[in-house]
Amino acid sequence: MKFRAFLISTALTAVTISYGTLAHAADVKEVQMLHWWTSGGEAAALDVIKQAVAKQGFAWKDVPVAGGGGGAAMTTLKANVAAGNPPTASQILGYYALEYAEQGSLADISSLAGKDGWDKVVPAALQKFAKTNGKWGAVPINIHSVNWIWLNKAVMEKIGGTEPKNFDEFVALLDKAKKAGVIPLALGGQPWQEATMFDSIVASTGGTDFYKKAFVDLDEGALKSDTMKKSFDNLAKLRDYVDPNYTGRDWNLATAMVIKGDALVQVMGDWAKGEFAAAHKEAGKDYLCYRFPGTDGSVFYNSDMFAFFKVPADRQAAQLALAQVTMNPDVQSAFNVIKGSVPARTDVSDAAFDICGKKGIADVKTANAKGTFFGSLAQNYAQPPAIATAYYDVVTKFMHGGIKTSDIAVTELVKAINAAK
Ligand code: BGC
Repeated sequence: MKFRAFLISTALTAVTISYGTLAHAADVKEVQMLHWWTSGGEAAALDVIKQAVAKQGFAWKDVPVAGGGGGAAMTTLKANVAAGNPPTASQILGYYALEYAEQGSLADISSLAGKDGWDKVVPAALQKFAKTNGKWGAVPINIHSVNWIWLNKAVMEKIGGTEPKNFDEFVALLDKAKKAGVIPLALGGQPWQEATMFDSIVASTGGTDFYKKAFVDLDEGALKSDTMKKSFDNLAKLRDYVDPNYTGRDWNLATAMVIKGDALVQVMGDWAKGEFAAAHKEAGKDYLCYRFPGTDGSVFYNSDMFAFFKVPADRQAAQLALAQVTMNPDVQSAFNVIKGSVPARTDVSDAAFDICGKKGIADVKTANAKGTFFGSLAQNYAQPPAIATAYYDVVTKFMHGGIKTSDIAVTELVKAINAAK
């Protein structure tokens, strides 16, 4: 019997159920899912997966650990895994998944991957994190990218702004908003948000090759170069355009400032789009999406994966059910339309997506073909977590005055990264 048909049959009485190859009578019919999708847009997107899992006859046990960027969730996950009590699956970002795979904590769901042909539809860049030694231990639900800006269209019209094409034009636009009495830049002053914005600043200041050299190759010359200094100078420039209450603000509250027209723009990964969608705002009509000025043509990505840990036999059917629905093309389309991201499968049509989503899908394709598709350092796709954390520390100290100059910032960055290696 096909997996889907068998799962539908579970709706019948227990006596008549016949079990297929993926499940047995004693299976735990529950998916426990650890994640940090607690904002309005995120929760709405997750609902697509919950519904799909329910259709397969599995109950949903939500294990939310709030905190954008996933830092708190990763701490909880670590404790659960160490205690021998991993969830069915956990939302996870690249290098975290690799570390668990390398320490032998992940399950092997390769037989399902083989049966459903994931090798052919998931970009190689993502497979590097979902697969270790040829074995699938995680599945990607999406591709996000950090190099986006999100603008309130009415405010843009009010101040007579046009799309900024480079960093200087971006600063000029922010200045225009400031003069018009609008908060120019909606930012949440939390380390992961500041580092996420800095990824884009570095890519814009130095170009894609520089980003790669510095953050992917960790070339020391690039890390302490004048271009990196200039990137910190540019970060300091943007700091002049945030409101006084930005410290500690959650990312989705910053998005809400743009949605309401209290601020002109947010620099944020395309999960911000999920908040516009949840507020029933329309791309191109209520808000505008542009690539971070000076980075169009490149995609600095992260992908939300679901990692499957080694669990007793009676919990494996739940893992396979979740993996299968996650990789279903219809689920990938429906989820990503709401989430703001792009499907992780290259064979999903862009028909259901709005103009920003269509651009996102096209950009991934182009960047992949051109070799300008790079993992975000802030989002754990360029380096292991220890290095990303070292990066957060330096960027946030600089942002909040603990590091006074760009010269000191680059010295501290090299020091912190070397210590974390
Ligand atoms: C995740 C997104 C999430 C965002 C904010 C990112 O690390 O990839 O899915 O929406 O954090 O919570």
